[in-house]
Amino acid sequence: MAVQIAPSILSADFARLADEVAAIADADWVHVDVMDNHFVPNLTIGLPVVEALLKTTTLPVDCHLMIEDPDRWAPGYAAAGAASVTIHVEAASAPIRTLREIRSAGARAGLALNPGTAVDPYADLLSEIDMLLVMTVEPGFGGQRFLDVVLPKVRRARELIKGRDLDVWLQVDGGVNAGTIERCAEAGADVFVAGSAVYSADDPAAAVRSLRERAAAVSSQA
Ligand code: DX5
Ligand code: ZN
Repeated sequence: MAVQIAPSILSADFARLADEVAAIADADWVHVDVMDNHFVPNLTIGLPVVEALLKTTTLPVDCHLMIEDPDRWAPGYAAAGAASVTIHVEAASAPIRTLREIRSAGARAGLALNPGTAVDPYADLLSEIDMLLVMTVEPGFGGQRFLDVVLPKVRRARELIKGRDLDVWLQVDGGVNAGTIERCAEAGADVFVAGSAVYSADDPAAAVRSLRERAAAVSSQA
């Protein structure tokens, strides 16, 4: 399992987005939190800003859609050039169709589970996705405390992926920092979103490297 770090620009300075993304040039992804003030109680950015961002970076863009009606909007993010588009199971009414549309628009398809959503009912969807996102905070805001209670689900998700012999990445998002990333890696996560841990650091690039080293040290023992 190769460890990948995806800094979330939710904790970046939105007025200086291009510079903030340039500051994490050695990350594997740039994670973009799209929120609509309906699915979550916060409003961030949408497709026009993602399109502008795509022009300023060579990093692959990972769009995490925390919006109602992702069936309607998700394919547009893939068509715009996002390399990965993740929808929430709690919001999608036709997840299989939407995930297939994301893939046919050329992006990796991701499915996200809120902390209170069990993974087992979605086991059959694993063959339709490239990445499963297990939220480790309630979505909506950066800087929240990591929910240890979700770790058994990360472990269970890894078992389900292994059991089906699938190459599905397992992403964790929320409260991931130097103090929690090792627990996530130990539970089987391989893609790590980190917002405040990267952007509140004096040197965001060094924070990315250090998170990667911590996770890789655990993953190599797995
Ligand atoms: C929360 C977002 C996260 C958030 C992570 O709803 O999906 O991506 O930005 O921020 P931290 O790492 O600060 O918890
Ligand atoms: Zn996110």
